[in-house]
Amino acid sequence: MKEDIILTGDRPTGHLHLGHYVGSLKNRIKLQNEGNYERMYVFIADSQALTDNFDNPKKIRENVREVMLDYLAVGLDPEKVTFFVQSMIPELTEYTFYFMNLVTLSRLLRNPTVKNEMKEKGMEESIPSGFLNYPVSQAADITLFNTTIVPAGDDQEPMIEQANEIVRKFNSIYGETLNECKILLPDNEICKRLPGLDGNAKMSKSLGNCIYLSDTEEELRKKVMSMYTDPNHVRVEDPGNVEGNIVFTYLEALSNENHFKKYLPEYHNLDELKNHYKQGGLGDVKIKKFLFEVLNEELKPIRERRLELAKNMDYVEKVLKEGTEKARIVAKENMKKFKHAIGIDYFEE
Ligand code: TRP
Repeated sequence: MKEDIILTGDRPTGHLHLGHYVGSLKNRIKLQNEGNYERMYVFIADSQALTDNFDNPKKIRENVREVMLDYLAVGLDPEKVTFFVQSMIPELTEYTFYFMNLVTLSRLLRNPTVKNEMKEKGMEESIPSGFLNYPVSQAADITLFNTTIVPAGDDQEPMIEQANEIVRKFNSIYGETLNECKILLPDNEICKRLPGLDGNAKMSKSLGNCIYLSDTEEELRKKVMSMYTDPNHVRVEDPGNVEGNIVFTYLEALSNENHFKKYLPEYHNLDELKNHYKQGGLGDVKIKKFLFEVLNEELKPIRERRLELAKNMDYVEKVLKEGTEKARIVAKENMKKFKHAIGIDYFEE
């Protein structure tokens, strides 16, 4: 039976990058192509992006189109996926308000992803309450559409937990109304949270350590060639370390035996390459060139499709507008049930 409802989204604070791609976009495409679901939503979380960019709405506005371009470029299909813009579904904001009653301040302050972001943004001294509440708004995104599966990276796990807690609390007070959901993480451990080019634990726009899906071939080459490896691997003949060596981390996340056959036939697989590096005699340039080929094979078709699509922004915007209209219909319908459960549906027949 096709009963799953899949939903996930991204903040439009920049173009989407390789971390988004391996962490969530690839799983979305897989789910889309398997077709084993009732409905799939992919949305642009502009209201959430405003919670820490409220003073720069222009950036958010511009990136809504860029993220939509990225979605279509990676192969998400408007025939199979409903795309929407978060702020154009006012029911989401409405849900959030009622959900805020079901979460304590101390619970919000314990969210590890939010804690990290607060540290990164230097917000510990004065946290905008909207930002602290974004996990509550995310719970609204998820539950308003009766979502059962959320494909995302592991930084989203605390959000899913928070959403499910709210669902349980809501149901226990107002009666069985909302359903819980599950996160779908990538199988590959490294893809759950791809480190940045600089070795930082996370690839992130604000840290400036990203490979973007929209990067040109030359940008990609430059970024790969300047990647951090093992600082003690100075001469080719030196034994090298593969632990914490980001080039190997990326190869672990993205390469397969076919890549070896095609681009580096002296080795059969990553283990052989690693062993040679550990023994000494394998230079960084060689492994970086290989990584470039691996990445370029995956990103080239995306980059080319993106350039094609960008020539027809009217189409890209139309897809988003039509999806938003469809999602709104569902949102209104489910809002009625929600209000009925609380008993604030005064003028309904
Ligand atoms: N927090 C997600 C991000 O930073 C975006 C997001 C908002 C989301 N609402 C969601 C993801 C609901 C999954 C489900 O990219």
